[in-house]
Amino acid sequence: MESSLRERRLPSRQRYHGVLNANHRAFLRSIGLTDVELTRALGCIVVAWSEAGPCNFHTLELVRHVRAGMESADVTGLAVPTIVVNDNISMGTEGMRYSLVSRELIADTIEAQVSAHAFDGFVGIGGCDKTQPGIMMAMVRLNMPSVYIYGGSAEPGFLGDRKLTIEDIYESMGSYIKGKITEDELYEIERRAHPTVGACAGLFTANTMASISEALGIALLGSSTPVATSARRAQYCYLSGQTLGKLIENGIKARDIVTYDALYNATVLLVASAGSTNGILHLLAIAHEAGVDFTLQDIDEISNRVPYIVSMKPAGDHVMADLDAVGGVPVVLKKLLDRGYLRGEALTVTGKTLSQSLKEYRYAKVSHEHIVRDPSRPFKPTGGIRILWGNLAPEGAVLKVAATGLARFEGRARVFNDEDSAFEAVKRNEVSDGDVVVIRYVGPRGAPGMPEMLRVTSAIVGAGLGSSVAMVTDGRFSGATRGMMVGHVSPEAAVGGPIAALHDGDRVLIDSVAGKLNVLIEDSELRRRLESWKPMAPRVKAGLLAKYAALVQSASKGAVTSPGPL
Ligand code: FES
Repeated sequence: MESSLRERRLPSRQRYHGVLNANHRAFLRSIGLTDVELTRALGCIVVAWSEAGPCNFHTLELVRHVRAGMESADVTGLAVPTIVVNDNISMGTEGMRYSLVSRELIADTIEAQVSAHAFDGFVGIGGCDKTQPGIMMAMVRLNMPSVYIYGGSAEPGFLGDRKLTIEDIYESMGSYIKGKITEDELYEIERRAHPTVGACAGLFTANTMASISEALGIALLGSSTPVATSARRAQYCYLSGQTLGKLIENGIKARDIVTYDALYNATVLLVASAGSTNGILHLLAIAHEAGVDFTLQDIDEISNRVPYIVSMKPAGDHVMADLDAVGGVPVVLKKLLDRGYLRGEALTVTGKTLSQSLKEYRYAKVSHEHIVRDPSRPFKPTGGIRILWGNLAPEGAVLKVAATGLARFEGRARVFNDEDSAFEAVKRNEVSDGDVVVIRYVGPRGAPGMPEMLRVTSAIVGAGLGSSVAMVTDGRFSGATRGMMVGHVSPEAAVGGPIAALHDGDRVLIDSVAGKLNVLIEDSELRRRLESWKPMAPRVKAGLLAKYAALVQSASKGAVTSPGPL
């Protein structure tokens, strides 16, 4: 199909057309491109692919569908890779420090490849947690026509009637340590919890970011919920490739779509569905790369008034496949739009507004009240995530309210300077009712890399202490975390944030209703302690983590390393 694309002035024309670009064309001929293919626009298919885990194991197979879609829109598609750090496989180990760092690497590698080779736009295929925000950050940093497509989540596992996800393995490990289940039971859960390729099945970070891609307008409506093994995934890949052609033709760039309103809509969905707290970090990073003034204060304002209407694991009992079966993310967005919670004029990759796109979206009306409620009959009247402020977190902290039955917790601090010591203390039964486990020096700069504390939080829940013990950390939580867990405490301990001044036995107050995180000591005492604080020696002195620690900004700003949009 020929289109008006051939008339457009595109980056690829400057690089690959004209007599004196013979040298550049020669290399594309070497990989088999024909005269016809060299005449078209040039689209990049960025694929986050890796065999080192299930989340992105199958994504290479999706490339051909994206390429076919591009070809149908007069665009020649060439695939390039980007990296994957598998969160679950690195969880609870030193390797987890590379997870958030990988988000920056992914954005950087996309910038390098797409810019160096003069592509006219790209489709990014993500999967595991950091691949998705990394691709989204590159889309707005480069500000070119681009479409996001998710690789899809795994099918849920089953043990009898019990629906399993990776969260069940962690909590079962906690139960095994406490002698509550046998090794055979744990083994059976291990074998069944993640039965296919694809990302983790619950509304953890990967599915949170995939859902957000629809609300942001950078992915096609309905594209985030089909599981990795579904034929509809290939169809959405094809349509995403085709959509890129239209974006290039119409000159619509990522920052035309990712505006303040789009980030607002994404946050509404995040809060309404009690998605992963990592979503906050990533939305702040995407805003930073887009040059949009969208802050933790904006997120706080949204979280105070949007109801919690989507019940999925870990806060509820459903997985992505269940949401897909009732119509997917558009069902949620439509309810939120109809009740005035969304900014419907935001543009999407189709070139239409979110309102128009939702109006035209076709899905069968099936009963969905068990997963998605109308905002007038919410699961909870305010959102699933709260931002906390106070003398322990002057720049903010994040609490996932929906994953805890508690609104307020006051307890005594048990302070640890790394994750291992905290985990060992829980294992040795040294953590008890009324404790607030504080894990500090695990922030973006301190760890470095702000690892997730899922091993400790799961051990607490698995030990039956989920409602009697809280946690406060300058690290992160997995999307699978449950309980009264406060993360992203900013400023972090490594830069002298107040969390560094906590002592064992201090009374700590977490109040999700008032949005407060305080240590109950006199201001003068807190000041005195902070004045005598001495920084810890850096944990890492060379390599990637040291480079990251030197560049990274506060979690309250998205823990970014780049100066902003190009
Ligand atoms: Fe990749 Fe959960 S470990 S999505």
